[in-house]
Amino acid sequence: MPTPPPPTAKSKSNSQAIAIIDFGSQFTRLIARRLREEGVYAEIVPSGHAEVLTNRESHADYRAEYRGIILSGSPDSVLTAPMPPAMDKVFGMGVPILGICYGQQLMCHWLGGKVEHHQTKAGSKAGREFGRAEVKVTADHPLFQGVWQVGASYPVWMSHGDAVVALPKGFQVIGESGGAPFAAVAYSDKNKQFCGLQFHPEVAHTPQGTRLLSNFARSMCGISDTWSMASYRQSAIAAIRQQVGKGRVICALSGGVDSAVVAVLLHEAIGDRLTCVFVDNGLMRAGEADEVVRFFTKHYNIPLVHEDASKVFLARLKGVAEAEEKRKIIGAVFIDVFDKVAAGITSTKGAKFLAQGTLYPDVIESMATASSSQEVIKSHHNVGGLPEGMTFELVEPVRTLFKDEVRALGRELGMPEAMLMRHPFPGPGLAIRIPGEVTGEKLELLRRADAIYLAAIREAGLYDEIWQAFAVLLPVKSVGVMGDARTYGYTIVLRAVTASDGMTADVYGFGHEFLTEVARRIVNEVDGINRVAYDVTSKPPATIEWE
Ligand code: XMP
Repeated sequence: MPTPPPPTAKSKSNSQAIAIIDFGSQFTRLIARRLREEGVYAEIVPSGHAEVLTNRESHADYRAEYRGIILSGSPDSVLTAPMPPAMDKVFGMGVPILGICYGQQLMCHWLGGKVEHHQTKAGSKAGREFGRAEVKVTADHPLFQGVWQVGASYPVWMSHGDAVVALPKGFQVIGESGGAPFAAVAYSDKNKQFCGLQFHPEVAHTPQGTRLLSNFARSMCGISDTWSMASYRQSAIAAIRQQVGKGRVICALSGGVDSAVVAVLLHEAIGDRLTCVFVDNGLMRAGEADEVVRFFTKHYNIPLVHEDASKVFLARLKGVAEAEEKRKIIGAVFIDVFDKVAAGITSTKGAKFLAQGTLYPDVIESMATASSSQEVIKSHHNVGGLPEGMTFELVEPVRTLFKDEVRALGRELGMPEAMLMRHPFPGPGLAIRIPGEVTGEKLELLRRADAIYLAAIREAGLYDEIWQAFAVLLPVKSVGVMGDARTYGYTIVLRAVTASDGMTADVYGFGHEFLTEVARRIVNEVDGINRVAYDVTSKPPATIEWE
């Protein structure tokens, strides 16, 4: 599927915000999350884009009113990596700056201090620290206001190989730890306020870290706006109305949470000028397509075109065994079908806009990797991408939200919990849960087994503890015995994982009895399956899906 063009309009007004310059730390998103939890709106700016902070009109994604900057951590070292671009502009912006870990080292290095690697000098006090540490507060500072007292020590979480060994002129130490004499440092004059933390305030192992970040935003940067889902709902609706005017919007529904929330939000903003399109690829779970149709037409009364294209998808998948090939076909058929349906709506109703449930992690990732050539492990085709050659203007009202914020927005819109808390489901659906060729028969077996498994999980009250749970149908048959007869049936593999973003995953630990009961039910109730296995591999080294 082609990469969608950059958005032509934004979904938010110029709100007061903190810009987090991302140097590649695994925790950068957490900084944004923590601030947003405190009601402070924060945006992530990949370091290669830092220049746009001083020239905001040049890029549609950076139009908030930045009152302060946070420099993130990084896997890089200031001693070996080149200086990131535009630092002169960033440090000259005249807003308070907080450096975290690498960000602190970068700040001190840039402003004339000294950073050393832990091995560079025998007897150096700068040492590597990983994990829990104690920081002793040595001076009062607005960052610590109402949270940390001078003279007391507090638990923090460190993860650094380099450390600052000499401060830039005018900086003072405000906190120290065993391995980092400059664990917290600060500078201020009437034009500038800088501070740096060697530890990570954004992680849960720094218990009061969120309050330090909040102090930075509120006390040092003067952010007074309160960002909440109620306010987001209002500003998103206003932005949609402004962008769309009297126009009409088409929204592709995938059955997932993001497109559902986008559709309900749009319906609230523009009413019947929204038409939803649901391309039924026949690759969804048992009863799911009907549920989608019922929810939008009966519950919300949203105009919906339900295009049952399951036969077309199945015909195009015939004889195709390779996973990436299946993904490509499903993406291409979706575009064909959607294209035709959308053209019909455009010609009869004159729709000019296409709504998409693009999320913030996708936005950050596509900005950060735009210039890098990362290896594609699996090409994730998200149903709802903008087909090439389509002339729609995109409406992306949740492109600044994280997944759980989209759920919170759905809750704010009064959507049912069962819809909002659904496990993620891949765009290519059950086709990538049947290794090898997909047939109608295999789909039916998988659907029935999967429904039994999910019902058992719900009955046991475990659904919300699990990130994703699903059945996989293996294309191998094995011998079994039922009654006195020999059987020759397919194997079902059950998978359940816990995760926070799907990048890594742990196996969910069901009790033995639960699994044997599910296996018993599947083999008894689904004719054609005679063996059930449980996948006990984490990610990495395995992936969540089997294909
Ligand atoms: P993996 O299998 O890569 O999955 O560990 C990580 C997450 O991505 C989902 N996934 C997909 N989602 N299209 C999608 O929309 C795809 O082709 C696709 N492949 C995997 C998977 O369900 C999990 O949540």
